[in-house]
Amino acid sequence: TKMQWVYTEKVKDHFVNPRNVLDDEDSFGADGTGMVGSMACGDQMLVAIKVRDGKIAECRWKTYGCASAIASTSMMSEMVTGMSLEEAYHITPKQITEALGGLPEHKFHCSVLGDKGLRAAIDDYLEKNGLENPFTKSVA
Ligand code: FES
Ligand code: FES
Repeated sequence: TKMQWVYTEKVKDHFVNPRNVLDDEDSFGADGTGMVGSMACGDQMLVAIKVRDGKIAECRWKTYGCASAIASTSMMSEMVTGMSLEEAYHITPKQITEALGGLPEHKFHCSVLGDKGLRAAIDDYLEKNGLENPFTKSVA
């Protein structure tokens, strides 16, 4: 029997044409950055944000993670652009995978890297600006 791709067209599109990739960390001029890793596979994710008027003006990212991590974070970066910091802080892997039309069950841990990295970037932004973090962490 012929083997089939387990990925949706949306996943393939975001993997092949990832949106908002961080090309040059130094010239981006991030207001906050977060680097996180996945315990399940050891892959790393860097998320960098620009904040304007309490909203995510830009969300860029870079990973040496797998196809699912790339597609999830690409999708996430589009979803959170323009969101308030609070809304962005609470985006869930479930929302992201749903927007992708689903991910294979055992690839779910790849989809948590982006939002973990984003929360770390928002934490970093708040800390750099001497602000208390008013948001409760969502349970991923
Ligand atoms: Fe290599 Fe996931 S750890 S593809
Ligand atoms: Fe490592 Fe997907 S297997 S991020």
